[in-house]
Amino acid sequence: MKLRGLLASAALMACVAGTVQANTPAHSTSNAEQRARDALAQMTLDEKIALLSGKLPLLMPAAKRPAVIGAGIVPGVPRLGIPDQLATDASLGVSNLLETRKGDVATAMPSGLAQAATWNIDLIRDGGRMIGSEARAKGFNVMLAGGVNLVRDPRAGRNFEYLGEDPLLAGRLAGAQISGVQSNQIISTIKHFALNDQETGRSSASVEMDEAAMRESDLLAFQLGIEIGNPGSVMCAYNLVGGIFACENKFLLTDVLRRDWGYQGFVMSDWGAVHSTEALLAGLDQQAGEQLDKRRYFSTDLTAAVKEGRISEAAVDQAAQRILYAMYAHGLVDNPVTGPVPIDYAANAQVAQRTAEEGIVLLRNEGNMLPLAKSAQTIIVIGGQADLGVPSGGGSSQVVPVGGFRKVLPLGNSIAATFARRGYGGTPPLDGIKAAFPQAQVSYVDASDRAAAVTAARAADVAIIFADKYSTEAEDSRDISLGEGQDELIDAVASANARTIVVLQTGNPVAMPWLSKVPAVLSAWYSGQNGGIAIGRILSGEVNPSGRLPVTFPADISHLPNPVLPGSTLPPPSKEERAVYGLQTNSPPFKITYPEGSDAGYRWFDAKGHKPLFSFGHGLSYTSFAYSDMQATRSGQTVSVRFTVTNNGKVAGADVPQIYARREGKARRLAAWDKVFLKPGESRVVNLQIEPRILADFDTRTHQWVIPAGKISIELARSATSPEQVRTVKLTATRIKP
Ligand code: BGC
Repeated sequence: MKLRGLLASAALMACVAGTVQANTPAHSTSNAEQRARDALAQMTLDEKIALLSGKLPLLMPAAKRPAVIGAGIVPGVPRLGIPDQLATDASLGVSNLLETRKGDVATAMPSGLAQAATWNIDLIRDGGRMIGSEARAKGFNVMLAGGVNLVRDPRAGRNFEYLGEDPLLAGRLAGAQISGVQSNQIISTIKHFALNDQETGRSSASVEMDEAAMRESDLLAFQLGIEIGNPGSVMCAYNLVGGIFACENKFLLTDVLRRDWGYQGFVMSDWGAVHSTEALLAGLDQQAGEQLDKRRYFSTDLTAAVKEGRISEAAVDQAAQRILYAMYAHGLVDNPVTGPVPIDYAANAQVAQRTAEEGIVLLRNEGNMLPLAKSAQTIIVIGGQADLGVPSGGGSSQVVPVGGFRKVLPLGNSIAATFARRGYGGTPPLDGIKAAFPQAQVSYVDASDRAAAVTAARAADVAIIFADKYSTEAEDSRDISLGEGQDELIDAVASANARTIVVLQTGNPVAMPWLSKVPAVLSAWYSGQNGGIAIGRILSGEVNPSGRLPVTFPADISHLPNPVLPGSTLPPPSKEERAVYGLQTNSPPFKITYPEGSDAGYRWFDAKGHKPLFSFGHGLSYTSFAYSDMQATRSGQTVSVRFTVTNNGKVAGADVPQIYARREGKARRLAAWDKVFLKPGESRVVNLQIEPRILADFDTRTHQWVIPAGKISIELARSATSPEQVRTVKLTATRIKP
């Protein structure tokens, strides 16, 4: 962490000095560039154009499908040693959508929110390395990972895939994940660029946000992720931004990405997100999954456009050069995938388990209900299919876990139902609890039988209820309640047994109308391959919880920037609208104006004075941590914070001290954090540097980040609403390159 801080600050100082940083060592970058140029010079126009379009293997004639069927294939140029690009989803492991690879499984990582809740950069990198190794072993050399869209609304269907509501947290973690994936000599994406923050209207809604607000929020997450992770590819999004489709948005793809950020890799489209051949001129390099678009814009149509002189061959060359560059720079040519190679699933499950254990958040623990005493004789486990596995989110990121899904619940009629599943797999929590409490009699009752659950709870020493809520790509939730009668069930069980623990397994924040009746609540998210074991170990205290919320849990839906989810009251799209906006159209076109602007998540709650149910950054431990000796200093452009954390409790554990910065009249922003593992009685001095762009406004007039001169409060905090110590630092006016 310390070393990363130093590296990050070195990169930033270079930013301040106005130079563009590339993460790849200079020699290999220029080498890749030259090799790409040499290859390009030997290619025919047809070969170049072939690099610019990918197909969904599933929709290819069987005889033409690649040996390994994933999300995409782009044919290579064998005579020049350039391999096929074989793509698989996604950030949570090697997915197997619709089980196109019959019986193929992979290690399921916990959801993105669970990963973000670890606040542990090294662990996220390990997870990236692991899923990337499985992608490679299965024969893929492009992984569609790096999902970093910000959580702006707790109803959004894909929040579970992403890394929370804060651009610094999400961007740094995405960068770590990408660098882990790419350490396998394969390409990772960062996606979905940009502002694809909800699923309603995902391909027909236009996000209307002023540039400064974008730069200070969603774009900053991408900027950090790209600086840190150096992904070979950026995947542009389905939605429109400022009335222009993201995949033909020159502002995003050329002005921001290439001109301002100096990005050298290539832009691939999302599957079914391309609407014109001219998108090439706006900065799109590759049409992925071309069968899902109306036309073969980047193959048949592009060839015609070049022949007719409507698009220059130089534009084709530029896109092909960027793709080749990324392939050389990330090892696809020099270290071609061979696959299939055997995978050590037992070892990889440990990576998933560590992540689950560090990502589970202890939200509430009245009277030290947890860890549960080993003396408990009878434990009743209720609901959530806890006897079969843990839930997973649906859509392209969904991994069929090792062991397969033990249960798949039916979905209603929706676009999501055509490709997503509501599947339960991995180690069942019931098994994890039995293993953690060998002396106890542990039994299970299904949530569907409320009377039996209440009777069993009354007779047991302890009741543990698993409450889950499904989230999926292509669909948002209507509200933030658990639904399916689970609130009533929890209420009834808690009335029958005061020693009731709720384990939430959700892809989003949820409401908890029963909270005052329940002494202990864990958020386990979707906990992945060994989720059940991780939950058991947390309940028993074998593992001390150290997760912290990467999202705000609102107390009431009326506190959200958009109390009604944008677009959710519109009728279904017409046939004509579908024709214009593509296969993924789930609503008529509409505009999304996010009233919070750059103040996404806790910053909105702070600015409006709304008290959340649980704050961003919140999470309890079985030990306690004290903070002392805080100092905040400025030297040149760098603001540093130094303090001591002491574990003054009785058991070992990890703390996540958080630094928030607050300029006068502004909402506070996360500016730095650390994850510190301490034995009882142990102390550690922590040194952190503040990300300067967090202190800045983006000035669209001078086209720079601007830190005005003035005072700034630096808070050492346990969450976004619980500052412990505050110092003031005086800043001089500073400008930073965009
Ligand atoms: C998703 C992407 C995914 C792609 C390929 C799209 O529907 O939005 O995240 O990578 O499909 O499966």
